[in-house]
Amino acid sequence: MTGPVLLAHDISELDAVRAKLGADGRTVALVPTMGALHEGHRALIRRARELAGAAVVSIFVNPRQFGPGEDFERYPRTLETDLEICREEGVAAAFVPSVDVMYPDEQVVTVSSGPMGAVFEGAHRPGHFDGVLTVVLKLLNLVRPDVALFGQKDGQQLAMIRRMARDLNVPVRIEGVPTVREPGGLALSSRNRYLSAEERETALALSRALRAGESAAAEGPAAVLAAGRAVLDEAARARPPLAVDYLGLVDPDSFAEVTPEHRGRALLVVAARVGATRLIDNVPLTLER
Ligand code: PAF
Repeated sequence: MTGPVLLAHDISELDAVRAKLGADGRTVALVPTMGALHEGHRALIRRARELAGAAVVSIFVNPRQFGPGEDFERYPRTLETDLEICREEGVAAAFVPSVDVMYPDEQVVTVSSGPMGAVFEGAHRPGHFDGVLTVVLKLLNLVRPDVALFGQKDGQQLAMIRRMARDLNVPVRIEGVPTVREPGGLALSSRNRYLSAEERETALALSRALRAGESAAAEGPAAVLAAGRAVLDEAARARPPLAVDYLGLVDPDSFAEVTPEHRGRALLVVAARVGATRLIDNVPLTLER
């Protein structure tokens, strides 16, 4: 079913939209976003429409998940284009709250991401996952979807949201959607638009490192990490250079680093900066028994 996108700017408008979708007997899939929508978001919306009668997209650049000195102020805000994409993709409703709507008072109670939120991304961005989980729980409570969809590119975020839903008994199904890549391998991200042509060339090393690691899966965890590290080391000498924050091989659910003897599912994760832009990526792999 396609038609005009119902717009909700505040909670009473959202309640009216939600009541209408419920009265029409439609199940609801929520795609939470920070806007600057691209092909990766289109894939999330398409999957949402396969899973439910109505796709609802939220567009909110959440200040609580940005640390001091991060890119909150310059994060791309492209609402008109985003709503056009929602219309093209048959989104039923878009929730586009302001900061005052989402945080009308001082937020005294927040979600703590615990030890899992303090490793990898959490170690480099202290407080980030507390901010993500708090806003996602608020959005889930406001929209009350049957299913909520998140990109696998933000692998730790997806694992943490699944864990929050489990630990806090949030009545929603969490669905991960595979990463969409440019032909050269670069994972799509709203932040890619910050990259110059030369920086984009250097940034390709992230997906190259993941592919190199994947190819070494049969030889075990140490070989996977060594293969990925070799590609990143070379990119660290490129112009402009890649500055690596981490490369790790983790359990996809807990984000604990796997042991050298580990066999079975794992996620190879990487984060690096090129110029002023920070990029993350990951690839799931299976270490043979
Ligand atoms: O992945 C994102 O865009 C954000 O972290 C999310 C899930 C919309 C929460 O602000």
